[in-house]
Amino acid sequence: MPTPPDLETLEHDARAALDAAPDAQAVELWRIDWLGRKGRLTALLRSVRDLPPDQRPAVGAAANRLKAALQTAHDARLDALQAQQSPAGPQIDVTLPGRRAPHGGLHPITITRRSMERTFRDMGFDVVEGPDVELERYNFDRLRIPADHPAREMWDTIWIADDAEGEGEGGPRKLLRTHTSPMQIRYLERRKPPIRVIVPGACYRYEAVDATHEWMLSQFEGLVIDEGLSFAHLKGTLESFVQRLFGSEIETRFRCDYFPFVEPGAELAIRWQGDWLEVLGCGMVHREIIEQAGLDSDRYTGFAFGIGVERVAMLRYGVTDIRAFYGNDLRFLERFRGAEGGG
Ligand code: FA5
Repeated sequence: MPTPPDLETLEHDARAALDAAPDAQAVELWRIDWLGRKGRLTALLRSVRDLPPDQRPAVGAAANRLKAALQTAHDARLDALQAQQSPAGPQIDVTLPGRRAPHGGLHPITITRRSMERTFRDMGFDVVEGPDVELERYNFDRLRIPADHPAREMWDTIWIADDAEGEGEGGPRKLLRTHTSPMQIRYLERRKPPIRVIVPGACYRYEAVDATHEWMLSQFEGLVIDEGLSFAHLKGTLESFVQRLFGSEIETRFRCDYFPFVEPGAELAIRWQGDWLEVLGCGMVHREIIEQAGLDSDRYTGFAFGIGVERVAMLRYGVTDIRAFYGNDLRFLERFRGAEGGG
């Protein structure tokens, strides 16, 4: 005659084995052993039918309760093990504040360019842009720099291959503009005086790079043409610009310089680390250029200038090596985060 199973001992053994299971894999083995189709509890439930009929209902019900209790204990053990593995609890905590998406800032040259542009706008200048890929005619010839002129040596040129756009032999030669001055000619072709315009833009030179020279640079071309303009207007305009940008204490130096498209020509340098840093070339627009535009050079005069934006940014931010601007080092660029608003 079979005896009723000792459910208490069984439960005790099952729970002890479950508590000893060190990980999810062991818990699964335990589940197969105790609750699986061929497990101990299933075998026990099957054996109930062999008991005397009067004992079957009570033992069967108790065995079923035990099975449910062990199933609950199994689930709880699994949860506890998972919580141990990720002590922070559930993977998603909806009460945490959102993560800030990192956001970039404006490049220091863009910031400088914008504040230069604002300053010129305040002084009554219009702003236009021109093409980076320029015709030889505008970059050189029409600026009084013919092919055999030694002044071409002043700008080491990056040429665009003749056949790149199917121009072929003898077609107009193209280049990456070496300065923004070609826009003087383009603008004069379209507009009549009074003219007061600036042209911000990138220029490219086949240049030996060093602490104050980059092969790609940004310039602001300025062109002013009207009746009765003299070198005093040129000097006054540029000094006013520099003081608006750097304050009235700034030390400047004008010296003679040569550019074929102006007469006379000059350069302006700013005191920098006990030395002078040239920031722009300028001069009175050459009378031939005014006549080339169909204007009477006895009536109209004017001045032009080309300012180096990187040089201005170096002075503004105390940067001692121009190469830092385009070196793509985030540690350098992050210094300018939030500087957009600054004048
Ligand atoms: C010119 O480019 C003339 N087109 C300027 C000009 C315009 C003269 C109108 C007269 C009338 P220059 O090559 O000197 O000139 O360049 C002008 C300014 O650009 C320089 O004063 C300097 O601030 C900047 N610059 C020139 N070359 C470089 C370079 N390689 N890297 C960084 N800045 C440069």
